[in-house]
Amino acid sequence: MLTSELVKAARGLVRWDQVDLARESGVSIATIKRLEAKPGPLGAHGPTIAALQAALESAGVQFIPENGGGAGVRLAKRDGGLTQEEGMADPPPAPPAFDDAFRAQLHELFVWRRDVRRFRSEPLPGGVIEALIEEACLGPSVGLSQPWRFVIVDESARRAAVTANFRRSNLEALQAYDGERRTRYARLKLAGLEEAPSHLAVFVDEATEIGHRLGRRTMPEMLRYSAVVAIAQMWLAARARGVGMGWVSIIEPAAVAEALNVPSDWALIGYFCLGFPAELCAEPELAREGWERRLSPDALIVRR
Ligand SMILES: Cc1cc2nc3c(=O)[nH]c(=O)nc-3n(C[C@H](O)[C@H](O)[C@H](O)COP(=O)(O)O)c2cc1C
Repeated sequence: MLTSELVKAARGLVRWDQVDLARESGVSIATIKRLEAKPGPLGAHGPTIAALQAALESAGVQFIPENGGGAGVRLAKRDGGLTQEEGMADPPPAPPAFDDAFRAQLHELFVWRRDVRRFRSEPLPGGVIEALIEEACLGPSVGLSQPWRFVIVDESARRAAVTANFRRSNLEALQAYDGERRTRYARLKLAGLEEAPSHLAVFVDEATEIGHRLGRRTMPEMLRYSAVVAIAQMWLAARARGVGMGWVSIIEPAAVAEALNVPSDWALIGYFCLGFPAELCAEPELAREGWERRLSPDALIVRR
C-alpha cells in the first residue's frame, strides 16, 4: 500500500520535487501536495495512485512491500547506465504484412460491428473486458496523453442509479418529439442496461499532464476525441470476439459521475453495455426501424 511517506522517500531517491512527479505522472501538483500532506495511506482513487507509482517505478524506484521489517523504497541497480530490464530488451519485432484476405475480413468487421441493445443473459468470461480495455489503450491520443479512464461498474446499486437516470432522460427525450416522430421514438430500444451482463463507463481525465499538453492549446477538445477513438477501437475489438457493445448517451453526465464516485476532473465520454448479443445483423437498428437511413459516402465528400 502506497503511503505519503513512501512517495516522499521515493522522490528523494530519484531527486524529484513535486513538480517533477506531477509532470511524470500526470497527477496535478495540487493533488500531490494534498496527498503528501496527510500521513499514512494515500487518500486517492486507484488510477491516481497507479499513475504515481508507475512514474516513480519507471524512474528506477522499487517499492518494497511490508514483509515484517516494514515497507520501504530502494533504487534499482543500474548496469552500465541501463537498468537490467533495459539491458535485456528484445529487438523490435518485424512489422506484419496485411494481405487481401485480412483486409476482406477487416471490411466484414466494419460492416458487422453493431450498436447492441439486446443481450443474452450469460456473463462475459473473466478477463474479456480487461482485454478489450487493453486493446482500446492501443489507440491514438493527442500528445500520447492516454486520457481515457475506464470504470467497470459491478455494483448493482450504481448500475441501478445509472439505469434510473437513463429511464428519466429517455422519457424527457420522448416528450421533446411530436406526432409521428414521437410514436417512432417510443418504439425504439435505446439501451440494454437491464439485461447487459456488464456495464462500463469511459471518462477523460481533463486535468492530466501526461503528454505535456501537446496538441491541446488551440483545440482542448482533442483530449475527448482521443477517448472516442479508443472507444471505436474497443467496439471493433469486441465484435471481433463476438461481444456486443452498446453506447448509452441518453443520460446526464453529472448523475453518472456521482453514481460512480469519480474524481471531479473526469468528464464522461460514454456509458456502455457489454455482453453477448441476442441477435446479429449487418444493418443498423435505427435504419431497420426506419428512424434514419445510411448516407452514401459520395454525398459526404467535397473537394476544394
Ligand atoms: C456517440 C454515440 C452515442 C450513441 N448513443 C446511443 C444511445 O444513447 N442509444 C442508442 O441506442 N444508440 C446510441 N448510439 C448508437 C447509434 O445509434 C448507432 O451507432 C447508429 O444508429 C448506427 O448503428 P450501428 O452502430 O449499429 O452501425 C450512439 C452512437 C454513438 C457513436
